[in-house]
Amino acid sequence: MKELSGRVIVVMGASSGIGEATVKKIAEKGGKQVIAARRVEKLREIAESLPGAEIQYKAADVSNFEEVKDVIDLALEKYGRIDAIFNNAGIMPTAPLVEGKRDEWQQMLDINIMGVLNGIAAVLPIMAKQKSGHIITTDSVAGHIVYPGSAVYCGTKFALRAIMEGLRQEQRENNIKSTLISPGAVRTELYKTINDKTASEQLYRKQREEGYGLDPEDVAEAVVYAIATPSHVSVSEVIIRPTRQIV
Ligand SMILES: NC(=O)c1ccc[n+]([C@@H]2O[C@H](COP(=O)([O-])OP(=O)(O)OC[C@H]3O[C@@H](n4cnc5c(N)ncnc54)[C@H](OP(=O)(O)O)[C@@H]3O)[C@@H](O)[C@H]2O)c1
Repeated sequence: MKELSGRVIVVMGASSGIGEATVKKIAEKGGKQVIAARRVEKLREIAESLPGAEIQYKAADVSNFEEVKDVIDLALEKYGRIDAIFNNAGIMPTAPLVEGKRDEWQQMLDINIMGVLNGIAAVLPIMAKQKSGHIITTDSVAGHIVYPGSAVYCGTKFALRAIMEGLRQEQRENNIKSTLISPGAVRTELYKTINDKTASEQLYRKQREEGYGLDPEDVAEAVVYAIATPSHVSVSEVIIRPTRQIV
């Protein structure tokens, strides 16, 4: 029997990077999955690359509650229960506050914070009824430390720590676990969400320096570890950095 055999897991933000690597790892470990993101073609490719795995996919924008709810309904319809949701979708269009990029700030609030809250709102009534469940959210080292140019991104990630701790305290009697995964630099497509091309390329180069930057699989390992714990064990947070990272 594999480590996650029979577990039903929903992955939001599954089409690239940490989400994609996690879907592959969960599939290896025998979990049943519903995976979602906006780029449905990428989801299709991932599902088709894992022919032995039980995977359903659906396009969803996490900032739209109805679309998130449809993903959860699909999981219930196919598998009858939900053991875990990985709220991983996020964007990072960093820029100094003085540039006043209010549209980007709004997008970060809508995706990084409301996207996670939409996931929580959609699964919590089901998990409370089941008297079991696990909500996992991708936070960041940027949820612990603020640095210039990233005030709003850091703000969204700090907010997730408060929300996930509140969730833990409120839902522990229902046997619902809350886990934050806080990576440092990971080599993914996230740099593409920075609209300032110079800053975006700088980040791209830094994360691909020899020995610097985690692979998405390194983070996926932590997610699977948290999901696979026995029911009396709850991993509240994992901070995972490249060994050479300073902040
Ligand atoms: N890379 C890093 O260094 C790093 C460090 C710390 C934390 N993180 C966090 O890790 C998470 C995953 O990012 P990543 O690094 O793996 O980057 P990525 O490769 O860009 O992945 C981001 C994922 O989020 C999805 N997404 C973005 N907006 C969405 C929306 N509105 N609705 C649904 N899905 C959406 C993307 O899919 P679609 O575009 O197809 O919708 C994609 O699947 C994010 O929360 C990020 O903040 C990353």
